[in-house]
Amino acid sequence: MTPTPASDTAGQARGLFRELTGAGPAGTWSAPGRVNLIGEHTDYNDGFVLPFAIPFRTHVALAPRTDGILRVVSTFDPVPVEVHLTDLDALFPARRDEVPEWARYPLGIAWALLHASGTAAGDVGGADLAFASDVPVGAGLSSSAAIEGATATALADTWGLDLDRVALARAGRTAENEAVGAPTGIMDQMASMLGEADAAIFLDCRTLAAEVVTLGFDAAGLELIVIDTGVKHSHATGGYGERRAACERGAAALDVAALRDVTVADLPRLSERVDDVTFRRVRHVVTENRRVLDTVEVLRDSGPTVIGDLLVASHASMRDDFEISVPELDTAVEAALTAGALGARMTGGGFGGAAIALVSRDGADAVAEAVRTAFDEHGFAAPHIFPVTAGPGAGRDD
Ligand code: GLA
Repeated sequence: MTPTPASDTAGQARGLFRELTGAGPAGTWSAPGRVNLIGEHTDYNDGFVLPFAIPFRTHVALAPRTDGILRVVSTFDPVPVEVHLTDLDALFPARRDEVPEWARYPLGIAWALLHASGTAAGDVGGADLAFASDVPVGAGLSSSAAIEGATATALADTWGLDLDRVALARAGRTAENEAVGAPTGIMDQMASMLGEADAAIFLDCRTLAAEVVTLGFDAAGLELIVIDTGVKHSHATGGYGERRAACERGAAALDVAALRDVTVADLPRLSERVDDVTFRRVRHVVTENRRVLDTVEVLRDSGPTVIGDLLVASHASMRDDFEISVPELDTAVEAALTAGALGARMTGGGFGGAAIALVSRDGADAVAEAVRTAFDEHGFAAPHIFPVTAGPGAGRDD
């Protein structure tokens, strides 16, 4: 299958910057979106995840200012948004609704970075930032972590903040939770910060210890394809927060700090203490943690050709127990498997977005065609299907 051609997104960010300021930027930075191979809704339960960074990135062109003003503009909404750094504390979280939605990410990052580094707003000069991104929005590929990571690396470099990559990822989660109002975990930000070519990041979300695990898809003659259903979702509303609340109820019923501390053997005890829905939510998280550990072991011992069943089991658990799939995602997974995919599952927070399928390189086109046909037969809008490889994390480009 032919990869989606890379557009000159960095050039677009530089062009937009020049329109904004009339001059060139001091530098450009970028950060990727991510695909989660396995480990869904485990991050905020202190559990395990196995995401990788993808070649789609958000680019930012930046120059520092000396007047304390932070000005952001994006190709998605070319009206610049401007705040004084000393006003950030008043805006976030209480008055975040006054900030255009997309701008809550970069401005929220600035606010979170100042707090994380113990820097007074008056001690840094401000900045102009222009963004362009080729990460599909609302596809479950973490366009939000990409804008957070690009902003965090650019501002931390420019302002000389003493924050390591984990601290930058934490600032991303703070911005998302407090400035945007989405109660998400830290998987996406860690993947965007730590990504490496041909590798996934095996992350313990309790300790934030990360190990690099080789994927080896290409060497094994495999491809990982993304099936973007086009069904948009938002984690700032509804289902995501409800799932998180159910997990917290389950942990409280078992008197543990987080579902990370629950094993499959504890489940019968739980079933006597909570309602059926809460029980199934917990069972998803507990079994999913196990599947992440198993996937890491299988990848290391036997390589990627034998992880398919774990991906399939993960999807079934999200569909039946966690109930975050939608008919388009189930159709994508079923059609891909019927057409010969080794494994397939929805990826990301759910309620829309994308599925992934692990396919042989030779069979990739046939799988994509089968999925398109199935969507057509169900009357769904045509999906956007493309292969992804694992690429590097956030950083300065020039
Ligand atoms: C979204 C969130 C993540 C994670 C996933 C589900 O992507 O941003 O923190 O919870 O959903 O695994």
